[in-house]
Amino acid sequence: MVIDLNNTKVGEIVAASPGTATVFRKLNIDYCCGGKISLAEACRGAGADPDQVMAELLWANEGTHIKFDQFEPDFLMDYIVNVHHRFLYDNLPEIEYYVNKVYTKHRERYDYLTELATLFVKLDAELMEHLPKEEEILFPYAKELLNARRAGVKPQAAPFGSVANPIRMMLHEHDGAGVILMRFREITQDYTVPESACNSHRVMLHKLKELDADLIQHIHLENNILFPKIEALEAETV
Ligand SMILES: [Fe+2]
Ligand SMILES: [Fe+2]
Repeated sequence: MVIDLNNTKVGEIVAASPGTATVFRKLNIDYCCGGKISLAEACRGAGADPDQVMAELLWANEGTHIKFDQFEPDFLMDYIVNVHHRFLYDNLPEIEYYVNKVYTKHRERYDYLTELATLFVKLDAELMEHLPKEEEILFPYAKELLNARRAGVKPQAAPFGSVANPIRMMLHEHDGAGVILMRFREITQDYTVPESACNSHRVMLHKLKELDADLIQHIHLENNILFPKIEALEAETV
């Protein structure tokens, strides 16, 4: 893609070239929930040199193989559920175990653990309510829209009116998760392991960092690629 510093949005760059996510992640530039700003604005906010960033983006783009924006919507939804929802179902209970263990043993020594444990409980509970809404309500209806388009027929009316309604709710919930992840990064100094930390403390921070990266990518795929595809499908078929 051609990147125009002042007009191309950060989210669009990652949507077209997923490999560029690494560059934004390194600069702490939000490319999912906050991805609707221009590259120039994002560089200003991060105090980064736009020419340097542009060079790194072009390089990262070279290594991109998976073109998520070219996936059919049903394949993309299956991918998100099988990769990213699965990641959360598998990893959240394990991270919860480590957060509880480290909080219980070391909260007096490390002040940040109390806020971290509280925020993790909140994120965990919110995600466990969020995922079924996509799996049981929004994604099945989007598949129905797709099947109707393929068959050349009108789809069933959705119980929730326009897809814009559940999508608005999902975007709002993604923003909530994004705020918690940002706070995780702040209070852990980007998941830096304290020198005196025990192994459980180390594992907890490592797993939280993995959770952060996976969730950011997951939200990016939904906000910047899947949801616009679903809205376009509705516009074509209803
Ligand atoms: Fe999801
Ligand atoms: Fe989501």
